[in-house]
Amino acid sequence: MTQDTKEIHPDFAGLLPRDRKESQLKQRGHVFWFYGLSGSGKSTLAYALEKQLFAAGYFVQVLDGDNIRTGLNSNLGFSDDDRSENIRRISEVAKLFAQSGIVTLVSFITPKIELRENAKSVIGESDFTEIYVEASFETCAERDVKGLYAKAKSGEIKQFTGKDSSFEPPVSEKVITVNTESSGIDDCSQSLLPKILPTIQISE
Ligand code: ADX
Repeated sequence: MTQDTKEIHPDFAGLLPRDRKESQLKQRGHVFWFYGLSGSGKSTLAYALEKQLFAAGYFVQVLDGDNIRTGLNSNLGFSDDDRSENIRRISEVAKLFAQSGIVTLVSFITPKIELRENAKSVIGESDFTEIYVEASFETCAERDVKGLYAKAKSGEIKQFTGKDSSFEPPVSEKVITVNTESSGIDDCSQSLLPKILPTIQISE
Protein backbone atom coordinates (compact mmCIF):
# COMPACT_ATOMS: atom_id res chain seq x y z
CA MET A 1 0.00 0.00 0.00
CA THR A 2 1.39 3.42 -0.89
CA GLN A 3 1.39 6.47 1.40
CA ASP A 4 -1.47 7.95 -0.65
CA THR A 5 -3.80 4.97 -0.25
CA LYS A 6 -3.25 4.03 3.37
CA GLU A 7 -5.85 6.47 4.69
CA ILE A 8 -8.54 5.02 2.43
CA HIS A 9 -10.95 2.80 4.33
CA PRO A 10 -11.67 -0.31 2.28
CA ASP A 11 -14.62 -1.52 4.35
CA PHE A 12 -17.64 0.35 2.99
CA ALA A 13 -19.86 -2.69 2.41
CA GLY A 14 -21.90 -1.92 5.53
CA LEU A 15 -23.72 0.92 3.75
CA LEU A 16 -25.80 -1.54 1.80
CA PRO A 17 -24.97 -5.10 2.77
CA ARG A 18 -24.31 -7.75 0.19
CA ASP A 19 -27.13 -9.99 1.36
CA ARG A 20 -29.67 -7.25 0.62
CA LYS A 21 -28.37 -6.97 -2.92
CA GLU A 22 -28.46 -10.76 -3.22
CA SER A 23 -32.06 -10.98 -1.99
CA GLN A 24 -33.07 -8.33 -4.52
CA LEU A 25 -31.35 -10.24 -7.33
CA LYS A 26 -32.61 -13.58 -5.91
CA GLN A 27 -29.20 -15.16 -6.35
CA ARG A 28 -25.85 -15.51 -4.65
CA GLY A 29 -22.81 -13.77 -6.10
CA HIS A 30 -19.97 -16.12 -6.97
CA VAL A 31 -16.92 -16.28 -9.25
CA PHE A 32 -16.53 -19.29 -11.55
CA TRP A 33 -12.96 -19.13 -12.86
CA PHE A 34 -12.56 -20.93 -16.22
CA TYR A 35 -8.97 -21.55 -17.27
CA GLY A 36 -7.05 -23.54 -19.87
CA LEU A 37 -5.03 -23.13 -23.05
CA SER A 38 -5.88 -20.57 -25.72
CA GLY A 39 -8.50 -22.20 -27.93
CA SER A 40 -9.58 -24.73 -25.30
CA GLY A 41 -13.13 -23.34 -25.38
CA LYS A 42 -13.20 -21.38 -22.09
CA SER A 43 -14.93 -18.27 -23.40
CA THR A 44 -17.30 -20.21 -25.67
CA LEU A 45 -18.34 -22.23 -22.65
CA ALA A 46 -18.62 -19.17 -20.38
CA TYR A 47 -20.86 -17.38 -22.92
CA ALA A 48 -22.99 -20.52 -23.44
CA LEU A 49 -23.50 -20.72 -19.68
CA GLU A 50 -24.20 -16.99 -19.43
CA LYS A 51 -27.03 -17.45 -21.93
CA GLN A 52 -28.46 -20.48 -20.14
CA LEU A 53 -28.23 -18.91 -16.69
CA PHE A 54 -29.72 -15.66 -17.94
CA ALA A 55 -32.64 -17.58 -19.49
CA ALA A 56 -33.14 -19.22 -16.09
CA GLY A 57 -33.45 -15.78 -14.47
CA TYR A 58 -29.90 -15.17 -13.20
CA PHE A 59 -27.91 -11.98 -13.64
CA VAL A 60 -24.51 -12.92 -15.04
CA GLN A 61 -21.35 -11.15 -16.21
CA VAL A 62 -18.53 -12.70 -18.26
CA LEU A 63 -15.00 -11.31 -17.92
CA ASP A 64 -12.63 -12.41 -20.69
CA GLY A 65 -9.88 -11.15 -22.95
CA ASP A 66 -12.36 -9.35 -25.20
CA ASN A 67 -13.64 -7.02 -22.50
CA ILE A 68 -10.62 -6.87 -20.17
CA ARG A 69 -7.43 -7.16 -22.24
CA THR A 70 -8.79 -4.61 -24.74
CA GLY A 71 -9.68 -2.11 -21.99
CA LEU A 72 -8.62 -2.18 -18.35
CA ASN A 73 -5.57 -4.36 -19.11
CA SER A 74 -4.67 -3.05 -22.56
CA ASN A 75 -1.24 -2.02 -21.27
CA LEU A 76 -0.31 -5.61 -20.37
CA GLY A 77 1.46 -8.23 -22.48
CA PHE A 78 2.36 -11.88 -21.88
CA SER A 79 5.52 -11.84 -19.73
CA ASP A 80 5.18 -13.65 -16.38
CA ASP A 81 4.90 -10.29 -14.59
CA ASP A 82 2.22 -8.97 -16.95
CA ARG A 83 0.18 -12.17 -16.72
CA SER A 84 0.36 -11.92 -12.95
CA GLU A 85 -0.81 -8.27 -13.01
CA ASN A 86 -3.52 -9.25 -15.52
CA ILE A 87 -4.87 -11.89 -13.14
CA ARG A 88 -4.52 -9.63 -10.08
CA ARG A 89 -6.66 -6.89 -11.64
CA ILE A 90 -9.24 -9.37 -12.97
CA SER A 91 -9.48 -10.94 -9.50
CA GLU A 92 -10.17 -7.55 -7.93
CA VAL A 93 -12.85 -6.75 -10.53
CA ALA A 94 -14.43 -10.20 -10.20
CA LYS A 95 -14.50 -9.76 -6.41
CA LEU A 96 -16.46 -6.50 -6.76
CA PHE A 97 -18.99 -8.18 -9.06
CA ALA A 98 -19.42 -11.18 -6.74
CA GLN A 99 -19.80 -8.92 -3.72
CA SER A 100 -22.62 -7.12 -5.55
CA GLY A 101 -24.40 -10.45 -5.91
CA ILE A 102 -23.52 -11.05 -9.54
CA VAL A 103 -22.74 -14.47 -10.97
CA THR A 104 -19.34 -13.84 -12.55
CA LEU A 105 -17.84 -16.13 -15.18
CA VAL A 106 -14.14 -15.41 -15.67
CA SER A 107 -12.28 -16.82 -18.66
CA PHE A 108 -8.49 -16.44 -18.84
CA ILE A 109 -5.63 -18.87 -19.49
CA THR A 110 -4.38 -18.36 -15.90
CA PRO A 111 -1.46 -20.65 -16.70
CA LYS A 112 0.13 -21.14 -13.26
CA ILE A 113 -1.14 -22.73 -10.05
CA GLU A 114 0.24 -19.72 -8.17
CA LEU A 115 -1.92 -17.34 -10.26
CA ARG A 116 -5.05 -19.39 -9.51
CA GLU A 117 -4.17 -19.46 -5.81
CA ASN A 118 -3.67 -15.68 -5.84
CA ALA A 119 -7.05 -15.19 -7.52
CA LYS A 120 -8.67 -17.43 -4.89
CA SER A 121 -7.08 -15.49 -2.05
CA VAL A 122 -8.17 -12.08 -3.47
CA ILE A 123 -11.74 -13.24 -4.13
CA GLY A 124 -12.08 -15.44 -1.04
CA GLU A 125 -12.37 -19.21 -1.04
CA SER A 126 -16.12 -19.28 -0.41
CA ASP A 127 -16.80 -17.08 -3.47
CA PHE A 128 -14.47 -18.91 -5.83
CA THR A 129 -14.79 -22.08 -7.95
CA GLU A 130 -12.08 -23.22 -10.37
CA ILE A 131 -13.11 -24.90 -13.60
CA TYR A 132 -10.37 -26.38 -15.78
CA VAL A 133 -11.27 -26.42 -19.48
CA GLU A 134 -9.09 -29.21 -20.75
CA ALA A 135 -7.89 -29.68 -24.33
CA SER A 136 -4.39 -30.70 -25.40
CA PHE A 137 -1.93 -28.26 -27.00
CA GLU A 138 -2.14 -30.35 -30.20
CA THR A 139 -5.93 -30.08 -30.37
CA CYS A 140 -5.89 -26.33 -29.68
CA ALA A 141 -3.18 -25.90 -32.33
CA GLU A 142 -5.30 -27.87 -34.79
CA ARG A 143 -8.37 -25.73 -34.04
CA ASP A 144 -6.27 -22.55 -34.18
CA VAL A 145 -9.39 -20.39 -34.19
CA LYS A 146 -7.43 -17.11 -34.00
CA GLY A 147 -4.44 -18.21 -36.12
CA LEU A 148 -2.12 -17.68 -33.15
CA TYR A 149 -0.71 -21.20 -32.97
CA ALA A 150 0.60 -20.82 -36.54
CA LYS A 151 2.15 -17.47 -35.60
CA ALA A 152 3.72 -18.99 -32.47
CA LYS A 153 5.13 -21.83 -34.59
CA SER A 154 6.72 -19.43 -37.05
CA GLY A 155 8.15 -17.35 -34.18
CA GLU A 156 5.98 -14.32 -34.95
CA ILE A 157 4.48 -14.54 -31.43
CA LYS A 158 6.78 -15.12 -28.46
CA GLN A 159 6.00 -16.32 -24.93
CA PHE A 160 3.11 -18.36 -26.26
CA THR A 161 1.35 -20.47 -23.65
CA GLY A 162 2.12 -24.16 -24.02
CA LYS A 163 5.11 -23.42 -26.27
CA ASP A 164 7.61 -20.88 -24.83
CA SER A 165 5.60 -20.17 -21.73
CA SER A 166 4.43 -23.02 -19.52
CA PHE A 167 0.91 -24.08 -18.60
CA GLU A 168 0.38 -25.96 -15.33
CA PRO A 169 -2.73 -28.17 -15.28
CA PRO A 170 -4.45 -28.57 -11.90
CA VAL A 171 -2.93 -31.08 -9.51
CA SER A 172 -5.91 -31.50 -7.23
CA GLU A 173 -8.49 -34.04 -8.33
CA LYS A 174 -11.15 -31.91 -6.65
CA VAL A 175 -10.95 -29.24 -9.38
CA ILE A 176 -13.96 -29.38 -11.68
CA THR A 177 -12.73 -30.35 -15.15
CA VAL A 178 -14.51 -30.36 -18.49
CA ASN A 179 -12.83 -31.84 -21.52
CA THR A 180 -13.74 -30.11 -24.78
CA GLU A 181 -11.97 -32.77 -26.86
CA SER A 182 -14.17 -35.62 -25.73
CA SER A 183 -17.39 -33.56 -25.35
CA GLY A 184 -18.98 -30.71 -27.28
CA ILE A 185 -19.65 -27.30 -25.70
CA ASP A 186 -23.35 -28.12 -25.15
CA ASP A 187 -22.51 -31.29 -23.23
CA CYS A 188 -19.86 -29.46 -21.20
CA SER A 189 -22.27 -26.69 -20.24
CA GLN A 190 -25.01 -29.22 -19.38
CA SER A 191 -22.59 -31.08 -17.14
CA LEU A 192 -21.58 -27.86 -15.38
CA LEU A 193 -25.07 -26.49 -14.70
CA PRO A 194 -25.84 -28.87 -11.81
CA LYS A 195 -22.53 -27.86 -10.22
CA ILE A 196 -23.14 -24.13 -10.65
CA LEU A 197 -26.84 -23.85 -9.72
CA PRO A 198 -26.68 -24.96 -6.05
CA THR A 199 -23.95 -22.36 -5.43
CA ILE A 200 -25.95 -19.41 -6.78
CA GLN A 201 -29.45 -20.38 -5.65
CA ILE A 202 -30.85 -18.50 -2.71
CA SER A 203 -33.39 -20.01 -0.34
CA GLU A 204 -36.63 -17.98 -0.28
S1 ADX B 1 -3.18 -15.00 -19.22
O1 ADX B 1 -2.04 -15.93 -19.35
O2 ADX B 1 -2.74 -13.65 -18.79
O3 ADX B 1 -4.26 -15.56 -18.38
P1 ADX B 1 -5.16 -14.23 -21.16
O4 ADX B 1 -6.22 -15.27 -21.00
O5 ADX B 1 -5.37 -12.91 -20.52
O6 ADX B 1 -3.75 -14.86 -20.71
O7 ADX B 1 -4.93 -13.94 -22.71
C1 ADX B 1 -4.81 -15.01 -23.60
C2 ADX B 1 -5.30 -14.64 -25.00
O8 ADX B 1 -4.44 -13.66 -25.56
C3 ADX B 1 -5.21 -15.87 -25.90
O9 ADX B 1 -6.45 -16.55 -25.98
C4 ADX B 1 -4.79 -15.28 -27.22
O10 ADX B 1 -5.93 -14.88 -27.95
C5 ADX B 1 -4.04 -14.03 -26.88
N1 ADX B 1 -2.55 -14.12 -26.89
C6 ADX B 1 -1.74 -13.23 -27.50
N2 ADX B 1 -0.44 -13.53 -27.27
C7 ADX B 1 -0.43 -14.62 -26.48
C8 ADX B 1 0.63 -15.40 -25.90
N3 ADX B 1 1.91 -15.11 -26.07
N4 ADX B 1 0.29 -16.46 -25.13
C9 ADX B 1 -1.01 -16.78 -24.95
N5 ADX B 1 -2.05 -16.09 -25.48
C10 ADX B 1 -1.77 -15.01 -26.23
